[in-house]
Amino acid sequence: MAVQAALAIVTLLQGYVAVTFLGLLVSQLTRPNVTVNQLWPITAGFLGIIFGLAVLGYWLNMHAQANGWSAWFGMQAMTNKKMLTVTYPTFIDPKFRDNYAAANTSINYSGGFATFITEIVNSVCGLLVAVLLSGASLVALFGARSTQTTTLAQFANSPWLLILMLFIIAIPVVAAFPLAKLSGRFTQKFYQYNIQFNRIGEYYIQKVFEDYSIGKVIRIFDPHDHLVHHFGEMNRTQIKQDNKLLTQATAVRSLNNIVLSVIVGALYVVVGIKGLAGAISIGAVIAYVGYLQQVISALTTMMDTVGTSAATLKGLDQFIDFIEYPDAPATGKLPVEKRLDNEYAIKVDDVSFRYPGAKAWSLRHVTLDFKVGQRLALVGPNGSGKTTLIKLLTRLAEPTEGHILLNGIDIQKYDIHEYQQIFAVVFQDYRLFAFSVADNVAVNTHKDPARMKRALTLAGVWDKVQTLPKQADTSLTKNIDPDGVDISGGEAQKIAIARAWYKDAPFIILDEPTAALDPVSEYEIYQRFDDLMENKTAIYVSHRMSSTRFSQRIVVLDHGEIVEDGTHESLMQAKGLYYRLFEAQAQYYTSDKIKEERKNADATYAIS
Ligand SMILES: Nc1ncnc2c1ncn2[C@@H]1O[C@H](COP(=O)(O)OP(=O)(O)OP(=O)(O)O)[C@@H](O)[C@H]1O
Ligand SMILES: [Mg+2]
Repeated sequence: MAVQAALAIVTLLQGYVAVTFLGLLVSQLTRPNVTVNQLWPITAGFLGIIFGLAVLGYWLNMHAQANGWSAWFGMQAMTNKKMLTVTYPTFIDPKFRDNYAAANTSINYSGGFATFITEIVNSVCGLLVAVLLSGASLVALFGARSTQTTTLAQFANSPWLLILMLFIIAIPVVAAFPLAKLSGRFTQKFYQYNIQFNRIGEYYIQKVFEDYSIGKVIRIFDPHDHLVHHFGEMNRTQIKQDNKLLTQATAVRSLNNIVLSVIVGALYVVVGIKGLAGAISIGAVIAYVGYLQQVISALTTMMDTVGTSAATLKGLDQFIDFIEYPDAPATGKLPVEKRLDNEYAIKVDDVSFRYPGAKAWSLRHVTLDFKVGQRLALVGPNGSGKTTLIKLLTRLAEPTEGHILLNGIDIQKYDIHEYQQIFAVVFQDYRLFAFSVADNVAVNTHKDPARMKRALTLAGVWDKVQTLPKQADTSLTKNIDPDGVDISGGEAQKIAIARAWYKDAPFIILDEPTAALDPVSEYEIYQRFDDLMENKTAIYVSHRMSSTRFSQRIVVLDHGEIVEDGTHESLMQAKGLYYRLFEAQAQYYTSDKIKEERKNADATYAIS
């Protein structure tokens, strides 16, 4: 800030020195019998001062730029941190996403705090310097009186001249405020308009254009570049509207420049009257008009800053709104008891859930008791609510109705970060970081080589990791490390399983953890289930009905409701949904069925 102020003062001083020099030079030149030698001292002095100021300005500018960059970077870092630390329900809240887009737009377009502070510092310093220097010179100007007796001289000595001058100065100053306000309104429209485009643009650039997986889809499904075309169209629309709004904003703001040039002409006439009346020299006329211009410029800058501050502040508001976005609905403060016996009992009590903005219920009146140490399989058709129930258990979403209790206390009352520590999850849409294998498995915990080996072995990926150039220290993908490697989908899923085991949480939740695994790998995982689950409470979601045999209890969901709850035997006997799902899959594996299918396939092959 101090650097900015110094820079503003130095820049203004440069203007004053130039005007003063011009005045002095003209005064010298208009003297009779002036010689070149007489001009040297003034010119050398001027050059010396202007050079000194220029060097100082150069140095200050360098630092001011760095400060501006730091301020911008600081704001950017704050938004990034916010994105990482908000709770998941907030993170996916469309309102929060809008706010994020608005904050980003405000940082990147208006320049945020840095620009605003610079503008304020510039205008305040400008005004201070102008008041000091120009004020003093104005006093001198009016102190200079004409000794002539003409009407012009009388007018030049009268207060009317001062009033006229103040009136002329006031015109651009007064005009600056409404013009800046109007221009600010266009600027605000410009920001508002860009928020939605920036969000869409961000999706295209970060997700569609850069993502490897989508890259494959585009090349196979969009050979004629419809997406590129669509994006281009959107860009053109945006640029057209942006240009329109910016032109309007600049046009309105620049109107004052036209007013200013007329005003400068008028000032020459008025100050010229003093000169004509013999009160001041011609050089002084030039210098005084220059000083007055500086005053006008300082005042209009001030008015301009005030006028546009509404738009600038609106942008900052959006940034502040985003940074202060409440972390709700996670309001709990209660610590989670650390228990060595893992006696963490969870009870789902008449829970219903509807996704924000959705009409249909994804879960309806679900009541479920998890016995400590029990292995529970959650099965049901697509969209029956299995993943949703996992999200509610792990507080990635909050029940719309009903409660979930941990050891008798509503889970919302616990500190969310502590609460989430008792879960290790392999998500259905598991993701790995572009970090090393070890970093993916240990994430933020201590890296213990023996434990790492066991985790990777249990997940069936240890041998593969040994073949990588730097074993567990090898980075995945080349996104961050150019020496990183790409692994297969199944290998990635195995690393996700290793990550869940490594966390050693009392609850382990596996949502379709073997979907990408080949039958042998899947079989091996099942064989190691006892070691993988240890004595933890486990929830296991799978469409592979044969895998539920590893569970002591099976809960069947359908259309968001629990329709069956029992053991494999009891549910098979009940001949309900579980039985039908199991039979539907099992029949693919009966030898008769296979024979029949082969017959069909062979027949089809023979025809084609
Ligand atoms: N983010 C979301 N917003 C709105 N509705 C959603 C969202 N995620 C899921 N749903 C809906 O909620 C219901 C339950 O979805 P859920 O993902 O829990 O099903 P699932 O049982 O895990 O299915 P699958 O076997 O396909 O994984 C579905 O009708 C789904 O369309
Ligand atoms: Mg699911």
